[in-house]
Amino acid sequence: MGKVLVTGGAGFIGSHVVDQLVEQGKEVIIVDNLSTGKLEYVNQSELVSFYEVDITEKEKLEDVFFTQQGITDIIHLAAQSKVGPSVENPIMDATINIDGTIHVLEFARQYGIKTFIYASSAAVYGPVDTLPIKEEEKLQPLSPYGVSKLAAEEYIKAYGRLYGFDVFALRFANVYGPRQSIATEAGVITIFIDQLLAGKQVVVYGDGEQTRDFVYVEDVAQAVLRCLLSEGNVNEMVFNVSTNTETSIASLLQILCNGVGVSYTPQFEEERPGDIKVSYLANDKLKSTLGWKPTVSLEQGLEKTIEWSKRR
Ligand SMILES: NC(=O)c1ccc[n+]([C@@H]2O[C@H](COP(=O)([O-])OP(=O)(O)OC[C@H]3O[C@@H](n4cnc5c(N)ncnc54)[C@H](O)[C@@H]3O)[C@@H](O)[C@H]2O)c1
Repeated sequence: MGKVLVTGGAGFIGSHVVDQLVEQGKEVIIVDNLSTGKLEYVNQSELVSFYEVDITEKEKLEDVFFTQQGITDIIHLAAQSKVGPSVENPIMDATINIDGTIHVLEFARQYGIKTFIYASSAAVYGPVDTLPIKEEEKLQPLSPYGVSKLAAEEYIKAYGRLYGFDVFALRFANVYGPRQSIATEAGVITIFIDQLLAGKQVVVYGDGEQTRDFVYVEDVAQAVLRCLLSEGNVNEMVFNVSTNTETSIASLLQILCNGVGVSYTPQFEEERPGDIKVSYLANDKLKSTLGWKPTVSLEQGLEKTIEWSKRR
């Protein structure tokens, strides 16, 4: 195997992926514009080369491929990853998530890469009737973000078919853990922890009974590595990366209060429009195909996240 290009490698999930690649002795090239990522999260190993480049800047992106001959695998995580801004500015969202992805794909094709792994999202499903959500569920995203993640998935699959590289589209549930920014909607856990540590009143929108599927970031990084290291010609694989478990916001907050050592006294406010009531994703396909399973329980993961938040 040659070099692995990780777009978004200075971000929350990307930096954990890079850490695990380095542990495996892989040579890693990071492309990140540091819009939400941080240099301090970038692994300092000599196996890692970092380029502050925006994936929408075609020439600069090409320079990376040209300078770093021998990239065989791409893990594409760079994205505008928030629902709110995608609703306010869908053109910006599409420019990064769709056009940016096509730029990366074009160089993947020109430089003959072997495997393309993409960070898709549960947002591609939208409202469903049946839980847990399986990969074959109908796709009817509710936000421009969900649409751009789905469009990018389809472009990647089409490029895989056209140019013969192996494609993995990983639909992440709610990923949490150290290095997650409070600026993301998915960062509800980091937001709660920060508020609890600061002795502030925690606000819960709705009755707290809405559920989500929280998966620990190191387990997600493990799933990415399983795909990268999988043997054989897979052509095209779509997997949920999840715990197959639903956790209510109220019980999540209860665990966090215990972990931080404060009493559970949330303030409930009116439900936000568009919030999905219940959601969790089946993970049998990834388990049976690649032997992956989540290894970090919610309690363990939250404890690690609280420890990290205290050290910040
Ligand atoms: N965190 C979650 O719960 C979750 C759930 C589903 C899918 N995802 C997907 O996983 C991926 C990583 O998300 P994350 O939570 O780590 O978010 P993040 O914002 O921490 O990571 C995104 C990274 O991409 C970089 N980036 C953004 N736009 C860029 C551009 N135009 N050019 C180059 N770099 C750019 C950012 O600086 C950042 O380092 C995203 O594709 C996101 O859509 C995340």
